[in-house]
Amino acid sequence: MTLGGVVVAAGRGERFGGPKAPVEVGGTPMWRRGVALLEAAGAVQVVVVGDVPGGIPGGERRRDSVAIGVAALEEGVDMVLVHDAARPLADASLASRVVERLLRGDVDAVVPVVPVRDTIKRLAGEVVVETIDRSALAAAQTPQGFRVAALAAAQAADGADASDEAALIERNGGVVVTVPGDPGNLKVTYPEDLAIVEAYR
Ligand code: CTP
Ligand code: MG
Repeated sequence: MTLGGVVVAAGRGERFGGPKAPVEVGGTPMWRRGVALLEAAGAVQVVVVGDVPGGIPGGERRRDSVAIGVAALEEGVDMVLVHDAARPLADASLASRVVERLLRGDVDAVVPVVPVRDTIKRLAGEVVVETIDRSALAAAQTPQGFRVAALAAAQAADGADASDEAALIERNGGVVVTVPGDPGNLKVTYPEDLAIVEAYR
């Protein structure tokens, strides 16, 4: 097996107020931290998608940017880690949990997850319809690991949007399993997240 990596660093950063991948965390641009993570995890090639040095242009949706990155992987790369530049605190032990599970070779995708902390309500406007059983829910993180063939097939078969790549595999009947994520693997979505991430680092 040959492991590659894709760091998605495109997008408009509408909630952040502008492009966020070049923003520094701990003195290093977030996208570079993603590259270092995937290289340390054993990726022989890391494709960066986004308007950063050495990056290739992204797509309209996150899933389009991932597809662009996967298409740029070298022949022979048969497993891939897909990581959001917006998660600058993902660490080596998290990535290795994903890789080790992927290497067992019996699944199409591996997703790191953490328990949902808040009580989750289903709404109809302002009205609460129900409270969802939290014990069966998990919040998904990146890096996520994939068999490249399964990911490419799911991307080709399903054009609808998806908030992560594992969702495409799920919808196409593939096997997606989880490993423990890291509550400290925070995502930078809003400007105030930057201070939280720096404090956590
Ligand atoms: N991303 C991407 N291409 C897109 C959209 C998102 O590569 N068309 C990447 C972002 O760079 C980020 C990750 O996907 O690392 C998660 O996306 P998100 O946090 O939603 O970033 P944006 O889409 O840029 O932000 P927003 O949704 O607030 O506009
Ligand atoms: Mg987005």
